[in-house]
Parts: sequence; structure tokens; C-alpha cells
Amino acid sequence: MPREFRELLTFDDVVLVPGLATVEPSEVDLTSKFTSDIEIYIPLVSSPMDTVTEWGLATTLARLGSIGVIHRNMGVESQVSQVKLVKRSNPSPWAEVARASPRESFEDVAFRVEELQVGAAIIFSEGSPVSFTVFDQANPEFWARKALGFIRLLREYKPVPVLDEDGRLRVGAAISPFDIARAKALDEAGVDALVIDVAHAHNVNVISGVARIAKEVSADIVVGNLGTRESVLDFISKVERVSGLRVGIASGSICSTAEVTGAFMPTLTAVIEARSALEELGLHGRIPIIADGGFKNAGDIAKALVAGASVAMSGRLFAGVEEAPGVKIRVGSKVYKQYRGMGSRGAMERRFALDRYSRPSKGVEEGVEGLVPYRGSVVEVLAEVVAGLKASLGYAGARDVENAWKARLARVTHAGREEARPHDVMI
Ligand code: XMP
Repeated sequence: MPREFRELLTFDDVVLVPGLATVEPSEVDLTSKFTSDIEIYIPLVSSPMDTVTEWGLATTLARLGSIGVIHRNMGVESQVSQVKLVKRSNPSPWAEVARASPRESFEDVAFRVEELQVGAAIIFSEGSPVSFTVFDQANPEFWARKALGFIRLLREYKPVPVLDEDGRLRVGAAISPFDIARAKALDEAGVDALVIDVAHAHNVNVISGVARIAKEVSADIVVGNLGTRESVLDFISKVERVSGLRVGIASGSICSTAEVTGAFMPTLTAVIEARSALEELGLHGRIPIIADGGFKNAGDIAKALVAGASVAMSGRLFAGVEEAPGVKIRVGSKVYKQYRGMGSRGAMERRFALDRYSRPSKGVEEGVEGLVPYRGSVVEVLAEVVAGLKASLGYAGARDVENAWKARLARVTHAGREEARPHDVMI
């Protein structure tokens, strides 16, 4: 018999309990932390997966207030070059689209658009965005959507780039706990956070590997994935510099780990477990909890924040965007992008990240390969998430992320879940 039988909660099992709001939703501040030292302004970061985060997405995210973690399913030199590309990029949010005033000549705006290598300009009048002009005739629909998404984002929040001490964009990179050479090379290239990227980090070899790496590098270290209170206590007691905890086991949309192995720790429960360990140590809020996987929408992200997380990490919400790697695939009249688990056959065939699933690699596939609808620019995703999160925290009565930790979640019954959706009407 198991010593202890835990009941696990996932996003759909709970709701936010409405609380007294002291500010309007539009005034909610989403500033948070990715690591103890890295502040971000949108609490949603991208997963290190080979169909999600390479330098293109990481650059756009950092320009707009978040951070991307570059995957490790590539050689060390490639990953180092990707980090350098982010670091050398123009850090301004206005490198994503041009900014123009109605008084400027068309030629002047066209010159700036070309200089920035973008395809559209947003026209400002008296400090507010009023319209946009598309210049890129090869991809006009994409640029029109991106400009509109940008205008929507500007209504919610004035983008602030996430910068290092030298004014360069910040970026994370995934590593194996056993690859000191990769960790050192990325550290020398100026990476801001090294994200330990294994499916089950609560393992004595992983803990000693991370402890060794932590002594050799200066970048922040995020450990994961973890699922239990004990795993957090073990890491913090055995590794000197833990700057972030990536939590959630097998809850990702492309994960088959739970199905194949029976092991599972839903992201929401993993956050609750990690928070309880950090509170015991007096470290909650000092070491951020990164809730990883399973997010369908801003409501789920808000639930993770209320449970105690500082940020959400997602692959699924980003895989369909133009800035993610991977080709677009047309099926009938619809456009999709490929999205696959790092434990899927296709990802493992590239072989660089095999030890994500143990050392040496297990012979089982723990992820699936699929398609997600094409989403246009990541700017559209961020605009939606920022608006949604502000509304959610408004209901929870939280003016910012730290106050969200004081808000409440409540268990919902099956009948409640049914009532919480649109019902009894034809849609
Ligand atoms: P979402 O829900 O955004 O989750 O698709 C992304 C997270 O899922 C994890 N991941 C995997 N987990 N098998 C797994 O069990 C896999 O093949 C796999 N690939 C990624 C990872 O934590 C990611 O951030």
C-alpha cells in the first residue's frame, strides 16, 4: 500500500475565487520574476523545445517583456550562436514594427521600415496608435495581423524589453545536467539563465551534476523538472545556487509520459508542492516557481500564479507562431505548424537531447508529434495573454503577481464545471 495517497489537482479542477479588487483590471501590473535576478514584465515564457524556441522567438519575447529558453536539440556551437544572435539583436520593442507619425513622409517611413527589416509601421497621433501601414507585399496578411496585435498589446501594456546590465536582451538556454562543456560555452557566450532540462530532475545523479555545473558558471541556474515538495527541499539543500524551479511532470500537451509510465504531477499541484517547500524555507518569492506545461489559456496561467508560481512556461501557446521554428503546413484551407514533444521519436532522432529522458536514454517514446493551428505573430498571443491575465487578476482582487499569491482557488464540482462554460444555447 502507498504510504500516503495524494489527491492531485489540475487547472480544470479549480476556479479563482473572486476577491476585493483595489485597482481596475487595466491597472494590474504583471511584472514578475523568471529567476531570482531576472525580472520580466509578462509572466509567460517559452519552452526549450525544438519546434518552439530558437533565437527568433527568444528575441521577440525579450523585446516585448518576457524571455525564451533556447532548446538543446542541436550542437553546442549552434546553441552558442543562437544565444549570441539574441544578445546582438536590437533590443527595442520598436525593432518588431516601425513607429511613425502622420506628419512624416511616406518615403521616410519606408526607409525606416527597410532599415529595421520589418514589414509594417504603426502610425501614432498624440501618443496613441491610430492606424498602420503594411509595406511587405510578399506577406501582407501576416504584417497586418502583427501590426493589429501590436496595437492591441499597446492598449494593455507599454512593452518594456528584458535587458541585462549591458543593455542586451536576456535569453535562457536549456542544458543537460551532465554537460559541463555546453554549460560553460553558453555561460561564456553571455547566456542569462541555464535551464536544466530533464524530465525527472529528482535523481541523485542529476542533483550532483547540477551542483557541479553551478560551481563552474556565473549564469542563473533553473532546475527542473520537479513535481514534489521533497524534490525542491533536496535541490535547495544540495545545490548552492538555485535561481528558479521549473515544475510540472508530464502535463504538457504533447507528453505521453503519464500514459507510458504512469508517472504524473499536474503543473498546478507541482506549484502547490514547490510553494509549500519554499514557504517552509522562507524562500517563496525569492526563488521563482516556473509552472511548466498544460496551459490552454490565460485563465490557467492565472490559476498557476494564484497557486504560487511567478511565471508560466508553455510550448503549446507558442508553437503555432511565425517566430517559432518549423514550417507551415497547409491542410485543406487551414494552416498549421508542427509541434512535437522532446521525447517524441522525431525529436529523439536528432539525438542531442536524448538524456532528457535519463542517462543513458530510455528506449521509450514519451512524447507525440502533431500539428497546431498557425497563429500569426507571437505579438497576437502576448496581447491575448496580457489582456486575459489582467482580467483574471482583476477578478481575483490582485493588483500584481505577489498579491495573486494571497488570492484563493477553490475546487469545482463536475456540475460547476459544466455551468462555468457557455451552456444551454446554440453557438
Ligand atoms: P505544453 O502543454 O505547453 O507543455 O505543450 C510543454 C512542456 O512539456 C514538457 N515536454 C515534454 N514532456 N514528453 C513529456 O513528458 C515530451 O516529449 C515533452 N516535450 C516537452 C516540457 O516541460 C515543456 O516545457
